[in-house]
Amino acid sequence: MASRKEELRAKESSRGRRNVLVTAAVAALGGLLFGYDTGIVASAILFIRHDFDLGDFGQGAVVSAVTLGAIIGAPIAGTLADRFGRRRMILIASVIFIVGSVGCAAAPNVEVLVVARVVLGIAVGLASATCPVYIAEVAPVAARGQLVTLFQLAVTVGILVAYLVGLAFESSGGWREMLGLGALPALALGAGMLYMPRSPRWLVMIGERSEARTVLRATREDETEVDDELAEIEATLQQDQGTYRDLLTPAMRAALTVGVGLAILQQITGINTVIYYAPTIVEFAGISSSSSAILASIGVGVVNVAVTVLAIRLLKNHGRRQLLLVGVAGMVLSLVSLGIAFMLGTDSGATAPIAIVSLMVYVASFAMSLGPIFWLLNAEIYPLRVRAKAAGVGTMSNWTFNFIVALTFLPLLAAVGNSAAFFIYAGIGVFTWFFCMLLVPETKDMPLEEIEQEWDRRAGVEPAAAEPPV
Ligand code: BGC
Repeated sequence: MASRKEELRAKESSRGRRNVLVTAAVAALGGLLFGYDTGIVASAILFIRHDFDLGDFGQGAVVSAVTLGAIIGAPIAGTLADRFGRRRMILIASVIFIVGSVGCAAAPNVEVLVVARVVLGIAVGLASATCPVYIAEVAPVAARGQLVTLFQLAVTVGILVAYLVGLAFESSGGWREMLGLGALPALALGAGMLYMPRSPRWLVMIGERSEARTVLRATREDETEVDDELAEIEATLQQDQGTYRDLLTPAMRAALTVGVGLAILQQITGINTVIYYAPTIVEFAGISSSSSAILASIGVGVVNVAVTVLAIRLLKNHGRRQLLLVGVAGMVLSLVSLGIAFMLGTDSGATAPIAIVSLMVYVASFAMSLGPIFWLLNAEIYPLRVRAKAAGVGTMSNWTFNFIVALTFLPLLAAVGNSAAFFIYAGIGVFTWFFCMLLVPETKDMPLEEIEQEWDRRAGVEPAAAEPPV
């Protein structure tokens, strides 16, 4: 029979596991809002365009306002998350999400609508820079990959829910309802975060050691490891909080090359051309009925969610690098076959099926690699004293290139033709594969504090933690 002490330990261990899972799931709601608010406009714009009598420019402004807001919000998040803490930052983002959603739903004219969408975008930028970092800092090392990936899972669910809500309101043309509904997950995020703990690593950074210890005790399965973890965090914090200038040291340049490089590559390998233009791509392949277009979007959305769930399972036993290399190879192959499908021309009966299968394989490959793993690495590879700021820079780069790809996709198709455009994305995919192969470190099972030392090693400097305390 288990002794009283063992029973108690088993109870604490399952309580620790449950607490950390709930914390990660609540913070991941920031991802749901990211997916929903970027996804819903594809359906809403069809009716907004009509109500406000918008031309191409007006439609473009409504659609891209969230991305522009995110480019503004992401870098601000770094400074604020250091000053006020990660948890409070997410709370602030949730209030901005609510204000933005209500503003969109009530907008009397297109000007107010665009401003409200920029406000929403600022919240998306704040949340996408902070939620993954918060989860990575609360998570125990063995579960960090899986828990941070809940954020990407929520992004994909948000996109899928947006397609479905768009369908549900299609007959009524209720774009105000579509946009206003985003306030609900925002309320849940805000209310939930009120009960979540502060990041133990941020607490150590501001000198609140005993509260950090309390949080670690509540979120770890094995209490005996809490003091070791705390000591390890403290050992890396022998200097004050970092500034933006600290991002320029050789070690940080090495880390940012990987983080910002992946941020850009995640976008310029073309994922959002498929997420947002799936119906157009299917149409170019020769299928023009509106139900097939809708099915293409829903198919892409379902595959994206399902394979992200699979990625969470795979991350338990496989390294980040392994998933990246396999997934990016799949993206390259499917982009090449998409290019070939378009070369065959719409007269060929083979074009449409090859294009549809290629689209699905492409999304599946992204969902097991660059999708989740960019957000994971962006949250875990930077040293604590500059983590929030560096993650903000990575996030801003991601949104900037998201914007550029969205803007250039249709002109690119017009300029070089459909198949050449997909061959160009495939070429960038090949570059991405070598980038991952040569530069991305394996961080699985490494405590955040050890990852910091990897950059010092790469830059040829003595790891900070090895220096005697000053
Ligand atoms: C990307 C988004 C993309 C989404 C698709 C995210 O990781 O940052 O730009 O729309 O994945 O699932």
